[in-house]
Amino acid sequence: MDIRFLGHACFELSNGDTTVLIDPFLTGNPKAAISAEDVGATTILLTHGHGDHIGDTVSIAKRTGAPVVAIVEIANELGEEGVDVRDPNLGGTVKFDWGWVKLVPAWHTSTTPKGTSNTPAGLLVSFADTIVYHLGDTGLFSDLQLVGKRNPVDVALMCIGGHYTMDRTDAVDAAELIGARAVIPCHYNTFPPIETDAQAFKSDVESATGSNVIVLDPGQSHTA
Ligand code: NI
Ligand code: MN
Repeated sequence: MDIRFLGHACFELSNGDTTVLIDPFLTGNPKAAISAEDVGATTILLTHGHGDHIGDTVSIAKRTGAPVVAIVEIANELGEEGVDVRDPNLGGTVKFDWGWVKLVPAWHTSTTPKGTSNTPAGLLVSFADTIVYHLGDTGLFSDLQLVGKRNPVDVALMCIGGHYTMDRTDAVDAAELIGARAVIPCHYNTFPPIETDAQAFKSDVESATGSNVIVLDPGQSHTA
């Protein structure tokens, strides 16, 4: 399975037949690797409703027909806009023919650009015999360890930019708590407040934990 970083917190998981698109903020994203018109999707997953995550969800979902998995309050808003939705809450799992996605806690706030309040989530995604954990936007919290214990994580997609989320030094502890085989950093260098040194994060994690860090430029892929 290929994990392609599309910039900020947006990732595409693909095995050639199925494309799982997470947090498709492309229009207005200075680091977007692809346009909202060109990206493909079989299923769209959202961590939370902030504009830098919900992004182009409605237009991509309508063009592709992809169902959108989002926490119930966001799903209700998207459903009213004519999008095909699945509406779990924290702890819930949604199954597809390609695998499943489970919503787990994240410590953050969230309101959609249209004003719907919602609780942010992390996403555990099982696809092509691989478990990917997109942490969403979160500060550091100890239950990350519980998530990793319950669901052995192959690849963690981890915010490191600080200011709106944990920074790269807290993220070293997050990597240790989760214990993933591989960590791909995200949510940094998109805007000035979240500029950070991803290579320093990589060396810190790799000296403190057993995880490998893969730093991807927008547009680059990692094969998991
Ligand atoms: Ni956010
Ligand atoms: Mn964000």
